[in-house]
Amino acid sequence: MTEHAVEWWRHAVVYQIYPRSFQDSNGDGIGDLDGIIQRLDYLNDGTPDSLGVDAIWLSPTFPSPMADFGYDVSDYCDVHPDFGTLETMDRLIAECHRRGMKLLLDWVPNHTSDQHPWFLESRASRNNPKRDWYFWRDARPDGSMPNNWRSVFGGPAWTQAEETGQYYLHSFLREQPDLNWRNPEVERAMHDTLRFWLDRGVDGFRIDVMGMIVKHPDLADNPPNPDWKPGDRERSRYRSVNNRNYPDVYDAVKRIRSVFDEYDDRMAVGEVFGSSDEIAAFYGDDDEPGLHLAFNFQLINEMESEATHWEAQALQRIVQNAEAAMPRDAQPCYAVGNHDRSRFISRHNGDGRGLERARAAVVMQMGLRNTPFVYYGEEIGMEDVDIPEEQLKDPARIRTTGRDPERTPMQWDASPGRGFTESEPWLPFGKLERNVADQVDDPDSLLSLYRRAIHFRKTTPALLDGGHREIAAPSDVFAWVRWAQGAPAVAVAVNIARDPREVAFPGGGTICLATDRALEGMAVDRNIVVPPLGAIMVQQPAR
Ligand code: NOJ
Repeated sequence: MTEHAVEWWRHAVVYQIYPRSFQDSNGDGIGDLDGIIQRLDYLNDGTPDSLGVDAIWLSPTFPSPMADFGYDVSDYCDVHPDFGTLETMDRLIAECHRRGMKLLLDWVPNHTSDQHPWFLESRASRNNPKRDWYFWRDARPDGSMPNNWRSVFGGPAWTQAEETGQYYLHSFLREQPDLNWRNPEVERAMHDTLRFWLDRGVDGFRIDVMGMIVKHPDLADNPPNPDWKPGDRERSRYRSVNNRNYPDVYDAVKRIRSVFDEYDDRMAVGEVFGSSDEIAAFYGDDDEPGLHLAFNFQLINEMESEATHWEAQALQRIVQNAEAAMPRDAQPCYAVGNHDRSRFISRHNGDGRGLERARAAVVMQMGLRNTPFVYYGEEIGMEDVDIPEEQLKDPARIRTTGRDPERTPMQWDASPGRGFTESEPWLPFGKLERNVADQVDDPDSLLSLYRRAIHFRKTTPALLDGGHREIAAPSDVFAWVRWAQGAPAVAVAVNIARDPREVAFPGGGTICLATDRALEGMAVDRNIVVPPLGAIMVQQPAR
């Protein structure tokens, strides 16, 4: 065992809740914290009948004008009235802890709301003491924007404010002005917002767009992207080298880490983008640690097949690169879904077989060396919902529909309000048959497979602490073994093909988890046929 083996987040499965969509407790059609408290037993009641997750991450719960549904924070130290009060949050923290679960909030350090008192002051006049808390620049002499940076949500990253005629920087919506992290007062104030919650017992944070908080000191133009062609996304026209993963960001991350280290057992997981090496750099090093975990989005972003986004060679390459780049003792964290991305099934459904791939994906997720994150509703196979234009709420149309399709309310049962609400839900529901009540007692449901996979992982030392080694397999099978000293090894095979594939497990063993439950418990001599689009785990005899 390494010295870090007992840190809770290494063994945890984390469940992401989008608070507006999990459970409405007061009949306004919007989910809230009391609703989450009511549903905690579903997540973990201490028995294998519940999902068995160890921690919850809540998308932002702070006061916000909701221009970007909470990612535009107007007060970092309170709770939005739609969700509850500080007292409700304290109760949620206590209720999680009573069940042995951890609670992570979502910290948004790159930008505030344009209604945050800091920004209201900052914009008031050129000599306001908070002027330098944000980025204010004049237009260039030719009247053009201060630089060529683009907003991630489209259009220029600058908006002119009428008070002074100067432009302010916003990497996202104009309602989300970027904070100037090179100003020590900003850094101090933001560190204090972390302490506010860590003092209240929150176990850590997911950190929004971690890699953007420190920019080029002169806000220099980004160089053109030589690969860009007309028709490509406008925001990839330039290479974001001066506003994303700028080298100085890593020191700021280490200073953020030191705030977490003032407390016991806390964890920071960053939303980061880039190559495997760039992701790895966010973990820092032994002398100066950075984030505990950094998301790797390559399983979502780097599948070449447009139709199914599911290829053995790509999965293998991504995991190989991540493993090779990780600093000593660091643990990967592969994102397979969240509130910004199409639902897993919808992303992998080009041939209508996304649900089968979702079953294989949970076996993969629980079998890889990583801290698995499950986005609410993935465990019951929720899909993107086709929402009529007039009901769309997301102002950021990164995709033409925005991100509402993957944010629809959790489906607890088949009643008109799906067990989510007694009134009109804030977004429409999805397919009726994808609901908890219909799956909970069906041993072959996706939900039951999630429960089995999570519980098997929790009780299997090789999956919790073991190393990762690839094993030979046909080219459309992704296969590896997890091994730990003194414990039985576990081999995993994910068949990407629509036909069966034979895989050799030298040494044999017993099938301990499979997308097809009928295979579980079967002894394997050496070769095993993995069903089309299926996945299995084989526990090998202890050596
Ligand atoms: C990433 C978040 O996940 C997304 O929902 C948000 O819109 C942007 N960051 C801006 O905060």
